[in-house]
Amino acid sequence: MLTLRNVDVHYGRVHAVRRVSLHVAPGEIVALIGANGAGKTTLLSAISGVLRASGGEIEFDGKDIAAEKPERIVRLGLSQVPERRLVFGPMSVEDNLLLGAYSCFERRRVAADMEELYSMFPVLAERRGQQAAALSGGEQQMLALGRALMARPRCLLLDEPGMGLAPQVCKEIFRHVAALRRDKGLTVLLVEQNAKSALAVADRGYVLETGRVLLSGTSEELLANRDVRRAYLGREKEA
Ligand SMILES: Nc1ncnc2c1ncn2[C@@H]1O[C@H](COP(=O)(O)OP(=O)(O)OP(=O)(O)O)[C@@H](O)[C@H]1O
Ligand SMILES: [Mg+2]
Repeated sequence: MLTLRNVDVHYGRVHAVRRVSLHVAPGEIVALIGANGAGKTTLLSAISGVLRASGGEIEFDGKDIAAEKPERIVRLGLSQVPERRLVFGPMSVEDNLLLGAYSCFERRRVAADMEELYSMFPVLAERRGQQAAALSGGEQQMLALGRALMARPRCLLLDEPGMGLAPQVCKEIFRHVAALRRDKGLTVLLVEQNAKSALAVADRGYVLETGRVLLSGTSEELLANRDVRRAYLGREKEA
C-alpha cells in the first residue's frame, strides 16, 4: 500500500533522512522505532507531503505521491496524526473533529461518521461541547486520532501517540489502533520511542538511527534482537 525507496530528506544542510526504503502492506501495522532525532517525524512528514523529500520515491496505492500536496494526499486516503497531538485548544471537541472532515461537503456523511466515532470514543461524545484544551492528554490523543479518522483514511501515519501518557492510557490508545485495523482493515505506520508497546501491537517494525534504517523484521524478531533490547527496551520500565 505504501512503498518508500531510497528516500532522502534535508533541512538545508542537515541530512535528516538517508536513503530510507520501507513498505507497509494493506491491513498491516508497522512500527517505526528510533531515539530522539532519528528522523521519524521527518519521514512521516515527507510521506504526508508536509515536507518534500530531496530524493527517492514514495508510492501510495501504486501512485507516486512524492510531489503531491498534503490536501491531495489526505484525499487519496493517507492521514497523519501529528506529534504532540496538535488539537486546537480553544475550539470545541466537535469542531476539532469537523476540521478532519474539511474536504467532505456531504453533511449527512459527516454526521454519520461523527456518530460512529462517538460510539468508538464515548469520552469524546460526553465532552463534545467542551474546549479541547480542557481534555486530558489521553483524551486529546483520542481526539487527534478521531480527527484524522474523519477524513476516512485507508492508511494512518501515527506519530508517537503514547508520548507523555501513563502506560495504561498508552495501552488504551494502542487497543483502539488494533481495533481499527481489525474492524476496518485500516493500515497503520506507527512511530514510537516506546518500542515495547509499539511492537506489541505491530506486525513488523523498522529501527531508524540517525536517519537510516538500521534493522527491520517481524515484531518478534525485533523484540528478541539484542541491539534493540539494549537500545530501546533496557531502560524502559514496565510499559
Ligand atoms: N525544522 C527543522 N530544521 C532543521 N533541522 C531539523 C528540523 N526538524 C528536525 N530537524 C533535525 O532533523 C533530525 C530528525 O528530526 P526528527 O524530528 O525527524 O526526529 P524524530 O525521530 O521525530 O525525534 P523525536 O523522537 O524527538 O520526535 C534531527 O537531527 C533534527 O534536529
Ligand atoms: Mg518526532
